[in-house]
Amino acid sequence: RERKRKEGVNLLEMSASFFRERLKMPEAQMAREYLERRGLSPEVQKTFGIGYAPGQWEALKQHLTGQGVAEAVQVEYGLLVQHEESGRTYDRFRDRVVFPIRDIRGRTLGFGGRVLGDAKPKYLNSPETPVFHKGRELYGLYEARQASHRLERLLIVEGYMDVVALAQFGIRNAVATLGTATTEDHLQRLFRVVGEVVFCFDGDNAGRQAAARALETVLPQMIDGRQARFLFLPDGEDPDTLVRKEGAEAFEDRVTCASPLSEFLFDHAAQGRDLSQVEARERYASQILAAIEKLPEGMLKSLMLSELSRRTGVEQSRFEALMARHAPVVE
Ligand code: GTP
Ligand code: MN
Ligand code: MN
Ligand code: MN
Ligand code: MN
Repeated sequence: RERKRKEGVNLLEMSASFFRERLKMPEAQMAREYLERRGLSPEVQKTFGIGYAPGQWEALKQHLTGQGVAEAVQVEYGLLVQHEESGRTYDRFRDRVVFPIRDIRGRTLGFGGRVLGDAKPKYLNSPETPVFHKGRELYGLYEARQASHRLERLLIVEGYMDVVALAQFGIRNAVATLGTATTEDHLQRLFRVVGEVVFCFDGDNAGRQAAARALETVLPQMIDGRQARFLFLPDGEDPDTLVRKEGAEAFEDRVTCASPLSEFLFDHAAQGRDLSQVEARERYASQILAAIEKLPEGMLKSLMLSELSRRTGVEQSRFEALMARHAPVVE
């Protein structure tokens, strides 16, 4: 099984270098222009190993097959797509800019490919394979660690381009989930490397919803000493557009001012509620208490309870009694 895994990783590495080589060819003129239009220097392209998947149906397939890689293996690792009825196989990534997705040790596990224009889908990812699991990998984690092995914090952004654009501006500590919400697994990986994560969200409704989900996921992982903060970008911007507009320093200032988890929790729950009403305060307190219950035992939990008490004027012991009642009974 280990041998098989190694074979797969080799094959992915061969594909990554194939894509990188192809980016240098005349046929990749449009792709190079695209990357230039998006402001990515050759240095940053190199750091992230960005490449180009040619427009033909069987470019990579022919290359890998020529190297003695069985077609079935190419399919298994997501490089080829197999047509259901005919059984014919062809390249999954065609005429796209390709971003290798690497694990923390730098091994390529899969790819994300972006179209050069407005065609759909805009991004194509590797499917689940023996080595690639979307809910587990973080784009840019390896590159962030390469930039510094003593990272203080990591920023969690939405997209490949956000990670790469921030790096272009010298902000080398961003990672992206691969089109999914942040999972427990993601956070465990990140907290193994840093003490602090900063979630960056779009300033729109979807962004606020994503933030609420991220809060739920991060609460059980907030053991003392860890920090999570929440950054909301102006409506219509993502880190890529914003850093280009404002520059690195202004973006870093936003990161510095991002809301700590406590502030996000208390303020988010207050939104749209008239807290002069007892009933509204009841729902406010219930919502926050439910969140506090998810925190692991520790200083943060105690302090959050006393803050809730301060904000509502209800004694902390009352909340503790309520929590005890909700607590699962262990026999
Ligand atoms: P650019 O338009 O290149 O700046 O990309 P973006 O990262 O700003 O795109 P967007 O904010 O729409 O999406 C964020 C992330 O969601 C992307 O980086 C992808 O990981 C994922 N995503 C977006 N569109 C698609 C899609 O059509 N298919 C899949 N599978 N994932 C997508
Ligand atoms: Mn989107
Ligand atoms: Mn959005
Ligand atoms: Mn975006
Ligand atoms: Mn974007």
